Amino acid sequence: MGSLSLAEADPVEDYRVLARTHFWADVLGDPRQLSCLDVCTGTGRWLQAFSEMVLRPREMTASFDCVDLCSDSLAHLETRFPQIPEVSDGRTHCMDAGKLDALGCEFDLVTNMHGLYAIPREILRDVVGSMMGTVAPGGTCIIALGDNDSFYLRYSNELVDCGVMPARYTSAEDVVNVLKEIGVEFECVRVDYIEKTTCDAELRHFLENESGGNTWPAGDDRTGKALLSVVSPTVKKFLDHYMVGPDVYHFPQSTLVLLIKRRPA
Ligand SMILES: C[S@@+](CC[C@H](N)C(=O)[O-])C[C@H]1O[C@@H](n2cnc3c(N)ncnc32)[C@H](O)[C@@H]1O
Repeated sequence: MGSLSLAEADPVEDYRVLARTHFWADVLGDPRQLSCLDVCTGTGRWLQAFSEMVLRPREMTASFDCVDLCSDSLAHLETRFPQIPEVSDGRTHCMDAGKLDALGCEFDLVTNMHGLYAIPREILRDVVGSMMGTVAPGGTCIIALGDNDSFYLRYSNELVDCGVMPARYTSAEDVVNVLKEIGVEFECVRVDYIEKTTCDAELRHFLENESGGNTWPAGDDRTGKALLSVVSPTVKKFLDHYMVGPDVYHFPQSTLVLLIKRRPA
């Protein structure tokens, strides 16, 4: 483990899979320096994987503006910036994803990677529109989210049954519907993979830190309830479907990556 980079050492596969997709050469082109906005940035797991696995091999650097409602997550992210050589400038903004016009600037690349699960469907259009409004001419907005077949979405139905929240997570199909309603052209890339856990500690980490407990800001009531629900009998029964051996679980994941390009000026 000692010689692994932070992205390689991340126990969960989701962001490495996204960093390995084929479209990055086309999206980035060949500038040496990018301006990026990462929305629902959390503790910066995507920023880490993107910097190490997408920017580093291309010898590129980027400025990052990072938006999240959770100040605890942003404080963690700030400790990453100085350790990532590809980050030429890192700034955090504790604000709502639907109010990005307040930033007052446009970016080459605007990303939201597995960040929209907690955005209620009623305001999804505003959040997606807010992101698209920050893309510079010739730039790209990228939204990645689990679809209705993914484990993340199926798990969210269990959180509904446990009384954590009234409705399932927002899914990739919900975002596709919004993009169709707005009438913008987009490309959709489907990424399938299997998230594997091989011991109880890995299972708990995957459920608590990636499937429920990190969906809302740390202080939100639902975060505590989601963490408690992990040990409920109904969740245990649900998880049994994914057990492939003693303490070994395989979770099929299907993620849609939606790419929306803005025409050059
Ligand atoms: C699953 S995490 C995203 C993980 C992140 N992309 C990463 O790379 O680590 C979802 C994040 O969305 C944030 N969030 C939820 N609602 C939000 C909102 N309305 N505006 C901004 N951030 C929000 C949560 O605080 C949480 O950090």
